[in-house]
Amino acid sequence: MEFETTALHAGERPEKLYGAISVPIYQTSTFEFEDIGKTRGFDYTRSGNPTRKALEDTLAALEGGSFAVAFASGMAAESTLMHLLAPGDRILAQKDLYGGSYRLLAAVLKPWGIETDFVDLYNLGEVERAVSPNTRMVWIESISNPLLGVPDIPRIVRIAKDRGAISVVDNTFASPVFCNPLELGADVVVHSTTKYLNGHSDVVGGAVVTKDPHLAERIGYFANALGTTQAPFDSWLVLRGVDTLALRVRAHESNALETARFLQTHPSVERVYYPGLESHPSHAQAKRLLKGFGGVVSFVAKCGQEGAFRFLRRVRLIKLAGSLGGTHSLAQHPATMSHATIPQDVRRAAGIEEGLVRLSVGLEHSKDLLADLQEALKA
Ligand SMILES: Cc1ncc(COP(=O)(O)O)c(C=O)c1O
Repeated sequence: MEFETTALHAGERPEKLYGAISVPIYQTSTFEFEDIGKTRGFDYTRSGNPTRKALEDTLAALEGGSFAVAFASGMAAESTLMHLLAPGDRILAQKDLYGGSYRLLAAVLKPWGIETDFVDLYNLGEVERAVSPNTRMVWIESISNPLLGVPDIPRIVRIAKDRGAISVVDNTFASPVFCNPLELGADVVVHSTTKYLNGHSDVVGGAVVTKDPHLAERIGYFANALGTTQAPFDSWLVLRGVDTLALRVRAHESNALETARFLQTHPSVERVYYPGLESHPSHAQAKRLLKGFGGVVSFVAKCGQEGAFRFLRRVRLIKLAGSLGGTHSLAQHPATMSHATIPQDVRRAAGIEEGLVRLSVGLEHSKDLLADLQEALKA
């Protein structure tokens, strides 16, 4: 089946009891046993729930995996994955990385004896040199946050495999419509479903997908043991978002391309980051590895932080808010918001300047979006 059809029909849909087309929300913490040791497939919602399972089966199908877990947040998914590691293990990750992921790797895991080497993942020589005998996990963002770089996933995965490390790809920005990391050789895909998968800014969620039975068994075990799984209603909201994912992300992308082209010619803009622009260093790689460029555009305002702040205070239609991937356009300032947890020197070295603004281009009409940008940039 094609992507759009799978998004609507994967999982047990319609449900068997009454044939409900929309998966019912099984808002229950527990399930009656048929007999001692005999369930109808579910016993307790932390361990499993039919609504969450419909979402998990759908996400597994969309990513070309065989197993998925839906989590309470993207960070819950990431934290659970980290339990695959043990003290003494090392992680390799890219420098321009979501601030929350950076904090987990650099601050939370360190006291537990798990350290991370942050490298330029676009430089494969550096990647080769940085992999040590203790490297057990390579962490990649298929489209990086916030500079929108596209690393060479197949070659990085190969380097990791040759040294016995697993590759995890955070596919949040690309969504399964534009990238399927498992097909590119990755072992695990992680999502903040808060973003495009849900798509309506009304839920926080995460997901992990794999097709490796051993990893599936361990991830499922940790999700239940740690209690990081997603609630039924939130799972249902994400599943409803997935129904329209393909339509939405293509519309986001079309608006993002127009926005990026507009910003590129504007005199108040120093530089634009969008992998769909020929000027982006990852453009050729994005064309080769992705099926689309996504809906996020970043730019550096002239006059640095002051210029960025003036712009963010003047947008009207576009709202000053964190997060991305929802129907409504949002703008944020990575240095003080999404990436504020990264120390300033590390942030600057990764290219995340004070003048940088990240736009999550929504589904408003592009004419209205460009008018809002034009007005705000006058400042
Ligand atoms: C690329 C990326 N990964 C993971 C996360 C964390 O997800 P959540 O906020 O759902 O915990 C985010 C959140 O912004 C993100 O942008």
